[in-house]
Amino acid sequence: MQQKIIILDFGSQTTQLIGRRVREFNTFCEILPYDKFPADDPSVIGVILSGSPLSVYGENAFKTNLDAIRGRVPVLGICYGAQLMAQTYGGSVEPEGTREYGRAMLDIEDRQNPLFKGLDDRTQVWMSHGDTITRLPAGFRRIASTSTVKNAAYQAGDEPLWGVQFHPEVFHTLQGTQLLRNFVVDICGSRGLWSPASFVESTVAELRETLGNDRVILGLSGGVDSSVTAVLLHRAIGDRLTCIFVDHGMLRKNEFRDVMRDYGGLGLQVVGVDASSLFFGRLAGVHEPEAKRRIIGACFIEVFEAEARKISDARWLAQGTIYPDRIESLNITGKVIKSHHNVGGLPERMNLRLCEPLRWLFKDEVRRVGRELGMPEHLITRHPFPGPGLAVRILGEITPEKVRVLQDADDVYVRALRSWKVERDGVEVPLYDTVWQAGTILLSDVRSVGVMGDERTYERAVALRAVTSTDAMTADWARLPYDFLAQVSNDIINQVKGVNRVCYDISSKPPSTIEWE
Ligand code: XMP
Repeated sequence: MQQKIIILDFGSQTTQLIGRRVREFNTFCEILPYDKFPADDPSVIGVILSGSPLSVYGENAFKTNLDAIRGRVPVLGICYGAQLMAQTYGGSVEPEGTREYGRAMLDIEDRQNPLFKGLDDRTQVWMSHGDTITRLPAGFRRIASTSTVKNAAYQAGDEPLWGVQFHPEVFHTLQGTQLLRNFVVDICGSRGLWSPASFVESTVAELRETLGNDRVILGLSGGVDSSVTAVLLHRAIGDRLTCIFVDHGMLRKNEFRDVMRDYGGLGLQVVGVDASSLFFGRLAGVHEPEAKRRIIGACFIEVFEAEARKISDARWLAQGTIYPDRIESLNITGKVIKSHHNVGGLPERMNLRLCEPLRWLFKDEVRRVGRELGMPEHLITRHPFPGPGLAVRILGEITPEKVRVLQDADDVYVRALRSWKVERDGVEVPLYDTVWQAGTILLSDVRSVGVMGDERTYERAVALRAVTSTDAMTADWARLPYDFLAQVSNDIINQVKGVNRVCYDISSKPPSTIEWE
């Protein structure tokens, strides 16, 4: 039987990270809103309560029926989760005055505790809270403390119920992985059945069963999610899968050609549609970012639908939707926001059913599944790329000439990222692999003066963007080496006609976004 850990989300920024860490132990987990515990699901082997930006004693505090969980399966409360359990069972939680944020040293008092197996007696943890547990409920006992937080970790007597005030899921809690493994594997008894190989095997079997002899269509984007979806489906139903890849004219340099070749090599049946003149025609004279996005979205659906209708016996539309696209994330007001891929009403209009085989996977798992399926590494490690492509990286109006300039500059940048090597964990890796996403932006109407040889120039500027992130919800600008930036700047100005200035974008998200439009 399937085993799963439930993570109840009280709105912390690190909830998804907890999920990804649990998956690292080859254990399936589901992130659910704090009040949606599936009490009658026999496959649940443990529960983790996340942190939250709220206070447990606040008027709008998120509460959940802990009695439905306690005593049934092991529970680990993290930060707010720990405070909520302490408060619910008769302890006290009070404001600390100042918010404690950052590193702290945890002194383990109960060294035999199964939660701490393999941890040092003193270990660095990461704190982020404004409240503290001042009194534990009767029968609960303290198992670790820091110099400022007395009840930094507790257990409810000998029951399998723990609370930790720090965040074991974050990188700066140095032995956090071991602590989570102790909980998931030793305490909850996960048998580690969730692996890329087992996922491929069971999903292929499931797809065969569900799809029978039906035909499926899939929109490919060149990105990792849709590509892995295609290869997985191809393994399940072979040529009953038809893929459609629309070239809107704003892909990266040579991308359409290269990706079509890659797909061919994988044995996929792909209809490539060059619709660039249609897109450029509709976009002529349009400046406003949202208007551009709307036109591109509508145009894409139109082209895709026309192609899809040619496959008259198709019953399903497959999509590369992944788990983070579907998680109901909470904001502080308690409102549930659901984000969904936009297929423009196509399934309803064409009477197609949706097939989303990657719907349970995080991005890094999609990549592991891609490797399991034998896909080439450059397809698997490809950075995310927005659906509207370079259109959101050309400020203002789009013209084929601007696209050409941007493609050339971007090509220099991306090739340099792939060939520049840096050391990571003692291994040499391409700089490209150390960033979440990188791209070049054309500052369309900005022209500046330069000098080339003895000639005055008055030409365009481009901005380089590279960010680190785990989910694109927040991002920081990547600290690319100065020498690398110097080389790319030189190469772009020397090789790309029409550009005489290169800037580097040093904004984080929030308050900026990753794309400029
Ligand atoms: P922002 O700019 O909102 O981007 O920080 C977050 C992530 O989403 C990508 N992005 C898009 N992806 N269609 C997509 O498929 C879009 O319209 C779109 N807009 C932004 C962006 O590249 C980044 O990875």
